[in-house]
Amino acid sequence: MTRIARPDYDLESVRSEFPTLGQTVYDRPLVYLDNAATAQMPAKAIDAVREFQTRDRSNIHRGVHALSVRATEHYEAARVTASRFINATSPKECVFVRGTTEAVNLVAWSFVRPRVSEGDSILITGLEHHSNIVPWQLLGEATGARLKVVPLRDDGTISVDDFAQALTPDVRFASFAHVSNALGTVNPVGSLTALCREKNIPCLIDGAQAAPHIPIDVKELGADFYAFSGHKVYGPTGIGILWGRAQHLEAMPPWQGGGEMISSVSFEGSTWNAIPHKFEAGTPNIGGAIGLGAALEWLMDFGIAKAAAWETALLEHATQVLGTIPGLRIIGTAPEKAGVLSFVIEGAHPHDIGTILDRDGVAIRAGHHCAEPVMRHFGIPATARASFALYNTMEEIEALSGSVRRVQEMFADV
Ligand code: ALA
Repeated sequence: MTRIARPDYDLESVRSEFPTLGQTVYDRPLVYLDNAATAQMPAKAIDAVREFQTRDRSNIHRGVHALSVRATEHYEAARVTASRFINATSPKECVFVRGTTEAVNLVAWSFVRPRVSEGDSILITGLEHHSNIVPWQLLGEATGARLKVVPLRDDGTISVDDFAQALTPDVRFASFAHVSNALGTVNPVGSLTALCREKNIPCLIDGAQAAPHIPIDVKELGADFYAFSGHKVYGPTGIGILWGRAQHLEAMPPWQGGGEMISSVSFEGSTWNAIPHKFEAGTPNIGGAIGLGAALEWLMDFGIAKAAAWETALLEHATQVLGTIPGLRIIGTAPEKAGVLSFVIEGAHPHDIGTILDRDGVAIRAGHHCAEPVMRHFGIPATARASFALYNTMEEIEALSGSVRRVQEMFADV
């Protein structure tokens, strides 16, 4: 790929749309490189939430008054936007959830639970986030189904052949990340879903780390379910999308009971609302959904492909400059990565790295990144992780590198 030194857009003007980015931290300009945890929100999305809270705040779907009608219209418009964002066949295939974690749990208990019993397996991969491991373990405790794991390789990739071999007749469901949050690896999800389809095994893609970096087309991807979180695609926290094929969602029992998800209730029994409302029990995060819709509109107008090209340039540059620092080891060297650079420094705990960088105004994440099995594979307790977004600059990579170099020098003397 040709190295680009500048994005295909006016970086300063884009940055000015994100109010949090202009601040100083400890009298240093903020260098925000923790985007894989939570990306910042553009003013357009913040304003959409503010408008809901200051003008339309009311409950949805059940009110006859003007505020409720407006809130309902904006909430459902956000669903239409989300469905465009992933190219779903219909907005009714998009369920508002709290985030990817809730989406995986919903699929586990509503779709997979009736399909598994003792002796069956759920297939995942060795690079999964805890949110794509623990729900399956809980399901296994209740049903006797076991977890089967496609091994992680030392470069942080999953082999398609290993995945194919693991798809034995006991596998009833497969669930895998599109992009690893700890390593940045882009999984060959098209090949994995094709293998699942050949064997008639339904599957879910955890798209939490992919949605901000890769254009998503659920029709092309060929999965049965796709999930992503709002706060990683420049939207609010506490909101996300579970996409599912309509025929699955229609056949699935509700996951949680309560208001809104019913068609009628009596003490003798109840009937369920149509999809997607069947899965949205109780008053949802209305402002969050509206903010997510605005963030996705913003991102689609901006263009994910444009953002991805720049994020790749940032990642390549960061990989190169950090790679020259003595004692620094990059964890996760897959040929195709998106937005994430994890590393360790000999003699320095990642939490120390994170804390020292913070004093320089550089925000990164340090820890196991809710992916303890990945850390175990590499024989480390944690990594320091810088993660990039469309508003980051090459100067920020220099600031990261300068600060990391200082850490290395400090710990080299210890
Ligand atoms: N899953 C989020 C991360 O990787 C919180 O940081």
